[in-house]
Amino acid sequence: MRRRGALPRALNHGRRPNLAPAAILRGVAKPLFEIVDAVATPIGLLELRRRRLPAPAGMVVTEITINDDMLMSSLTTVSERALTTNALALHAGNEGLQVLVGGLGLGYTAHVALQDPRVGHVRVVDRLPVVIDWLRKGLFPLSEELNGDDRLEICEGDVYAELLAPGHGTYDLVLIDVDHSPTEPLDPASEPFYTWQGQRQVIEHLAPDGVLGVWSSGDDHYFAAVLDEVYPEARRERVRWINELIDDEEIEEVLFLARRS
Ligand SMILES: C[S@@+](CC[C@H](N)C(=O)[O-])C[C@H]1O[C@@H](n2cnc3c(N)ncnc32)[C@H](O)[C@@H]1O
Repeated sequence: MRRRGALPRALNHGRRPNLAPAAILRGVAKPLFEIVDAVATPIGLLELRRRRLPAPAGMVVTEITINDDMLMSSLTTVSERALTTNALALHAGNEGLQVLVGGLGLGYTAHVALQDPRVGHVRVVDRLPVVIDWLRKGLFPLSEELNGDDRLEICEGDVYAELLAPGHGTYDLVLIDVDHSPTEPLDPASEPFYTWQGQRQVIEHLAPDGVLGVWSSGDDHYFAAVLDEVYPEARRERVRWINELIDDEEIEEVLFLARRS
């Protein structure tokens, strides 16, 4: 299955001169490419990169990669933002909504939640402390806005472990954007999240009428069937966007949405 990102894996690694983006191969321009930080983590080598695109001239893109696979790019945030927008559209509540987001990435999913006046608090859980550090140090495009919003709480932790264990409080929305897809987890430890037993536990973290949203780079019939069984209402929404960097390739990503009664 295709993984997340603006660039397919083969074009992804700016340090390999023979694997340059198509625009460069066509001789348009040479990008500036910088590895801002690189940290070994329990799930692989995490890098924060900046890339200056040949077009639009001088546009700078921030990327997080893991073992050279794209984890998040500031260039393409359509489906990460739609995860929040579409989940919020399913919730009828009109104030004080409590939102859990896992994980942080570049912060786009959380940022959209904070823009909705119905949202009272956003708790982001990220397993990798370095990602939280990068945000706090102002290295992300949204750093200033997110760091200045006192409705945002960011915690270090494993969101899957949290959701698969009995919880004390509940959330109106639980938004998960961590794995590439249900069958391509960043760590096999998250596999139980996608099972019937796992979702029987996850639903207990949702308040009445609460909504679960899960981002995926592709469809997964097994996970869809699990959600259909566990939740009174479940649906898949496809988000399509055009990747102008790769000969206008159309990308389709999938949002799994489910609501408890
Ligand atoms: C694809 S990025 C999230 C992108 C985000 N939706 C955005 O809008 O920028 C995935 C994030 O999940 C974090 N992560 C990885 N494993 C995790 C886990 N088990 N629990 C919580 N966060 C995790 C990574 O550190 C990374 O920040």
